[in-house]
Order: sequence, then C-alpha cells, then structure tokens
Amino acid sequence: EATAVIFDLDGVLVDTAVFHYQAWKQLAKQFDFDFTEVENEQLKGVSRVDSLNLILKWANREVPAPKKEQLASLKNTWYLELVEKMKYGDVLPGTLDLLTYLKAADKKIALGSASKNAIRILEKTGILHYFDAIIDGNVVKNSKPDPEVFLKAAAEVGIMPAACVVLEDAQAGIEAARTANMPVIAVDKSHVLTNYNARVNDLSEILISDY
Ligand code: G6P
Ligand code: MG
Repeated sequence: EATAVIFDLDGVLVDTAVFHYQAWKQLAKQFDFDFTEVENEQLKGVSRVDSLNLILKWANREVPAPKKEQLASLKNTWYLELVEKMKYGDVLPGTLDLLTYLKAADKKIALGSASKNAIRILEKTGILHYFDAIIDGNVVKNSKPDPEVFLKAAAEVGIMPAACVVLEDAQAGIEAARTANMPVIAVDKSHVLTNYNARVNDLSEILISDY
C-alpha cells in the first residue's frame, strides 16, 4: 500500500513528450541532423543540457559552451510555443481521476521531473493544486537515472522510499526509481520499456484500489 505517489510529468500527466521530440528534431535540423523515435527514447527523462549533449554526440558535432546555451534556449523557445497551445484540462487520460482519488484517500502527491518548465505546465493545465511537493529541473542537480529527483520528492512529503510508487514513461526514470528503492509503474503504450514492476497504457488503467 503506497502512501505517496511520485509522478513524472512529460508523457505521464501531460502529452508534452511529443513536444520535446518535435522541438529537438527542429533543432537538430539546424545542423542537418535527424534522429528517430527509437533514439528519442534515450532523451526522455534527461535534462535539457544532457539531451543536447547526446544529440550533439550522435551528430558528431562539437560546439563551444556559449553556442550550446544558445541552442538549448532555441529548443526551449520552440518547445514553449507548443506548450502555449495547451489548454486548461489538457492532461493525459486518467490523470484527473487518479489525482482526485489520491487526494481524497489522503495520499501524498509529488512531482519528480527533470523539466524546468514543470510548474508552468501544471498551472496551465490546471493540476498544480494537487501537488504536495514539486521536485523539478530547477532543484535537481543530477539527471535521471540518478535517483536524486525521487529521493528528494519522498523526503519532501516525509514518506519512506519503499512506501512511494513512481509513475514513469522513460527508461532513465525507471532506473532512477529502482535505484531509489521505489516500485515503479511504467506508462508505456508502445511496450518499449523494461525493468518496471507493472505496466499500464495510461493512467486510466491504474487500479486505484491497490494504492
Ligand atoms: C523531462 C523530459 C525531457 C526533457 C526534460 C527537461 O525529463 O522527459 O524530454 O528534456 O524534462 O525539460 P525542460 O522543460 O527543462 O527542457
Ligand atoms: Mg516523462
């Protein structure tokens, strides 16, 4: 019986993983590079700067630090243009029911995301008020698969790691949860993830009676 649920953001609560992919592809085009959806799996859960470094490595490009900052910020501008089109209530299936249930059942609700845009997205879609703790890219130093983000979330809600459940759509996030000694449910329609404790297609398939 979990006492806290720690949610990843992009691709779990909101359909923004596709926006990240689109924006990174658009950026890669700047230096005539392209990458596939399969390669994109490696970018999920990974911070903005680490994602850029990976893409530059794949593209065999070396760029000086100031240029890197420019590229990362350009990607974020494009990403936010897509985010701005989101509306109140634009969350993935099952999200509102699950959050409402957890709140009523007095479970702790935490966010564990690498995104620096997390609060803006939670606000825009109208689900910010559900969260007891928000650990995001502005407070975390080490990208998933490092467990820092989830351990900080557990500490902030005052629940032992083993009594938390993590919901993740990224392999890096699953490894992070495992290392943090937390059970993890993969949100994985496409069956591309491994090493989870349970798998659902989306949050509407979570058996809330289990938590
Ligand atoms: C999440 C996403 C990644 C993204 C990272 C940083 O982990 O899965 O695709 O790169 O957040 O997001 P940000 O909004 O700060 O660029
Ligand atoms: Mg994600």
